[in-house]
Amino acid sequence: MAVIGVGHLGKEHARILASLPDVELVGVADVNAEQVQAVARRLGVPAFTEYWPLLNLVDAATVVVPTRFHFQVAAEFLRRGIPLLVEKPLAAALDEAETLAEMAARHGAALQVGHIERFNPAFEDLVSRPLQPKFITCERLGPFTGRSTDIGVVHDLMIHDLDLLLTLVGAPVVSVEALGVSLFGPHEDVASARLHFANGCVANVTASRASAAPCRKMHVWAPEGYARLDYQKRTLTLVQPSALIRQQGLDPNKLEPALRATLRDDLFTKHFERVQIDGHGQDQLTCELRHFIQCVRTGSRPRVNGADACAALRVAQRILECVRSHAWNGDAVGPVGPSQLPTPIGPLFADRPQQDAA
Ligand SMILES: NC(=O)c1ccc[n+]([C@@H]2O[C@H](COP(=O)([O-])OP(=O)(O)OC[C@H]3O[C@@H](n4cnc5c(N)ncnc54)[C@H](O)[C@@H]3O)[C@@H](O)[C@H]2O)c1
Repeated sequence: MAVIGVGHLGKEHARILASLPDVELVGVADVNAEQVQAVARRLGVPAFTEYWPLLNLVDAATVVVPTRFHFQVAAEFLRRGIPLLVEKPLAAALDEAETLAEMAARHGAALQVGHIERFNPAFEDLVSRPLQPKFITCERLGPFTGRSTDIGVVHDLMIHDLDLLLTLVGAPVVSVEALGVSLFGPHEDVASARLHFANGCVANVTASRASAAPCRKMHVWAPEGYARLDYQKRTLTLVQPSALIRQQGLDPNKLEPALRATLRDDLFTKHFERVQIDGHGQDQLTCELRHFIQCVRTGSRPRVNGADACAALRVAQRILECVRSHAWNGDAVGPVGPSQLPTPIGPLFADRPQQDAA
């Protein structure tokens, strides 16, 4: 195998693949000669500053270059039938992603996409339970890292939740409302969307890469109960009505006054049962890479394949259309889209004195 692009994330792909006993890492490639040599030296494998010599040397590869180059790099491998794990999002544009998925199918090459949260033990546990989600909120907030500035936050972070939502809800999105704002460049850095699914489920999803406090959480309300996922801590909290309430319901107006008085204190001990499940300590990236290797060996369908990645990108495209056409003053004459805002009417609070640069 080989890893193409060994920057922030690709060097971790390479480290893990080099450590797997049943994989031979035949090389790492990166256009940044200093970076690729440092990674290759550390792992004791050959370094390449171009990926094409690896086309004839590998049985499979992972593509971890910036998103805008996914298509050009991935297409070279897929058209030769070489199985690939391409980092998320599959491509910077939907038509490119669809072409890659179609190429993989035509050449019989496994195509897995790096939607790593599908390997989060908290999510794996939740999807294995009987659940009909009807209202979901997702928050994925992170600090500005200076990376992935070739794409906006919808493709960078929100795409994780779009894939998770499509998996959990199991129905297509029928309508989308969204808005977003760019803070650091041409693309949106904060975005929020409301999605309506064909089965009546509604989801609110917010993503930011300009947040001081990181947070990756999902709340799910369903007839079966309530679930809270913390993707960072890998915990899943489940709440369900007690067996008695499931049979008889709970009407406070029909309770004896003494029981009614204790209702508040007893709610989460007697009437609603609560469990917390802590995800085991397995490394998600290792699980994702092992799964890919297993799919290459057995010919089985990757958990997140090209079609799944295209479905998430299709929703992302609809969200971006809304973000680009949002009229901040309610009409198209005023500011529209993520890069324009109404002129501020004044500072929100008094400016602090300028710090001396020295
Ligand atoms: N799954 C996740 O949670 C997750 C997290 C972070 C990044 N990513 C994705 O991984 C990809 C890479 O992100 P990153 O943060 O590691 O970026 P990065 O900028 O740190 O690394 C990208 C590397 O690719 C190299 N490169 C560029 N063009 C190349 C080419 N044609 N051939 C070979 N190497 C080339 C660059 O020199 C750089 O070292 C992006 O698509 C990003 O969206 C996914």
